[in-house]
Amino acid sequence: MSDQPVALITGGNRGLGRETARQLAAQGYYVLLGARDLAAGRAIAAGLEGSVEAIELDVTSEAHTERLPGVVERLGRLDALVNNAGITGRASYGTSILELDLADLAHVMDVNVAGAVRVASAVVPLMRERGRGAIVNVSSGMGQLSDMGKGAPAYRLSKTALNAFTRVLSQELAGTQIKVNAVCPGWVRTDLGGPNASLSVEEGVRGIVWAATLPADGPTGGFFRHGKAIPW
Ligand SMILES: NC(=O)c1ccc[n+]([C@@H]2O[C@H](COP(=O)([O-])OP(=O)(O)OC[C@H]3O[C@@H](n4cnc5c(N)ncnc54)[C@H](OP(=O)(O)O)[C@@H]3O)[C@@H](O)[C@H]2O)c1
Repeated sequence: MSDQPVALITGGNRGLGRETARQLAAQGYYVLLGARDLAAGRAIAAGLEGSVEAIELDVTSEAHTERLPGVVERLGRLDALVNNAGITGRASYGTSILELDLADLAHVMDVNVAGAVRVASAVVPLMRERGRGAIVNVSSGMGQLSDMGKGAPAYRLSKTALNAFTRVLSQELAGTQIKVNAVCPGWVRTDLGGPNASLSVEEGVRGIVWAATLPADGPTGGFFRHGKAIPW
């Protein structure tokens, strides 16, 4: 087995995913950069320093996630999984939850929740064989029950569900050294966050990289922003 740690990042071709790939590669990780458009992913990977390999990965595609165990087996290890891919859906801040288009809700849940479950189901059994690693579910304060607001209802529901997935999986993996945490990056200037957001991608990614590189005695089953625990 190689000494080089391996990380898989979904939605690695832009925004927080791309910056996570850049920072983990700079730390010496072999980065599997998941991208729906493989050619675009390869172009991004080629522009990053270090070991970065693009793989075709639409998290709604079982044909894609079924290939993941083979990729991980070829590399011999998986140290970090960053479930970053996410969408807001068509429902905006002005959309009432009572007017939510349920097809839109189903699509957002498929990407933001089932997507993370699909990818984890494909690779966590291999992570489990080594008994250690880190899983980071990139969540949002908009899924925080303790601070729930209105607007963007599909996104809010999906991130609360992603937080629940974090808790369930962390319980299932209790007794291993696999850390499972949800991370809110803060409000970050990406296509999703918009140009008025308060944080740069470099700043937003710090807490994601922190959770992806936790030591064996690090926390699990938590919700963090910038490395600090926040309420669910
Ligand atoms: N930016 C913020 O302020 C903020 C705040 C809190 C949480 N977050 C969370 O951070 C994560 C990354 O967001 P971002 O701001 O970097 O957004 P972004 O710039 O819009 O990037 C989203 C990424 O997700 C990918 N993606 C979308 N659907 C996918 C699918 N079905 N399969 C695989 N990849 C898919 C996109 O790929 P394509 O290029 O192919 O579309 C893109 O790489 C999301 O989970 C988001 O909810 C962001």
